[in-house]
Amino acid sequence: MKVLVTGGAGYVGGTAAAMLLDQGHEVNILDDCSTGYADTVDPRATFFKESLLDANAVATSLSGCDAVLHFGAKSLVGESVVKPDIYWETNVSGTRILLDAMRAAAIPTLVFSSTAATYGEPKEIPIAESAVTDPTNPYGASKLAVDYMISAQAKAYGLAAISLRYFNVAGAFKSQRGWLAERHNPETHLIPNVLRATAANPLKVFGEDWPTKDGTCVRDYVHVVDLIGAHISALSAAIAGSHEIINLGSGGGYTVKEVIAAAESALGRPVPYEMAPRRAGDPAVLIADITKAGKLLSWKPERDLQSMVGDALASFQ
Ligand SMILES: NC(=O)c1ccc[n+]([C@@H]2O[C@H](COP(=O)([O-])OP(=O)(O)OC[C@H]3O[C@@H](n4cnc5c(N)ncnc54)[C@H](O)[C@@H]3O)[C@@H](O)[C@H]2O)c1
Repeated sequence: MKVLVTGGAGYVGGTAAAMLLDQGHEVNILDDCSTGYADTVDPRATFFKESLLDANAVATSLSGCDAVLHFGAKSLVGESVVKPDIYWETNVSGTRILLDAMRAAAIPTLVFSSTAATYGEPKEIPIAESAVTDPTNPYGASKLAVDYMISAQAKAYGLAAISLRYFNVAGAFKSQRGWLAERHNPETHLIPNVLRATAANPLKVFGEDWPTKDGTCVRDYVHVVDLIGAHISALSAAIAGSHEIINLGSGGGYTVKEVIAAAESALGRPVPYEMAPRRAGDPAVLIADITKAGKLLSWKPERDLQSMVGDALASFQ
């Protein structure tokens, strides 16, 4: 199969491209490297260092492809609050351009990186795909808008589509070229920040009075290799004219203090951290209901927290 991977110079898309290539598929990558890195791009792929907003470049990058894995996006919650226009432009208009080009080129299948941020504050845990969607920031709203756009495209034009709503992605993949590390700037994800905390720059833990077993927030983490396994399954599970939305997480969760303990065991030393007040808008617990992923993709995550922390650490060294 030949797959266009948008965002293939980034953390999750780079891992997808490398895993597809290792499995013998052909890969085109479209990425403007605005938050990704050209040196992440696997040399076995054909690389288009172009923007999703350039319709001609998108059309060229789709040449000969059977399917698209669409990771290319802006994805910083805080930035989306202060610069919402960028999120509507890249995430919504960029996907609009991609959908038009896919239709023009008769490319039948799309798997889209959606997010748990489309749900907003959960009313029930675990969060199922049927939960109310009420995003609390422009990032989540832009991804929800794309989910609506894809549904309409599937219904009107027969696209086979699956949106995968990730919870927290972590860990790293060791491809034939070596480790592919998470390299966000700024880094807002807990596991890399725990591993990089120093006495001079300790980790901030936001709140220790949450209604959880040790008072810190609970989040659901999924290993990037398990996550991409679900994408590869989704490529063959997508049905023409249908758009399915599927959560990807572990179906369980860890407190911030449990993540710190796992990092201390991987590092063999204490992690410097300090307590800080709760952040506005942080729910106490976010856990995915992953029943639908099991049913539709025959998928279940195999790697635990220790493996996510251990692989992230190996990728940083
Ligand atoms: N990492 C997570 O925990 C997580 C959770 C939920 C959803 N997601 C989604 O997964 C996808 C990948 O996330 P990531 O963590 O790898 O982020 P990332 O920033 O590492 O990757 C995104 C890539 O998209 C590229 N890009 C941005 N704007 C572009 C444009 N206009 N044209 C072409 N390329 C463009 C960037 O250069 C980057 O390489 C995103 O869509 C994100 O919203 C990630």
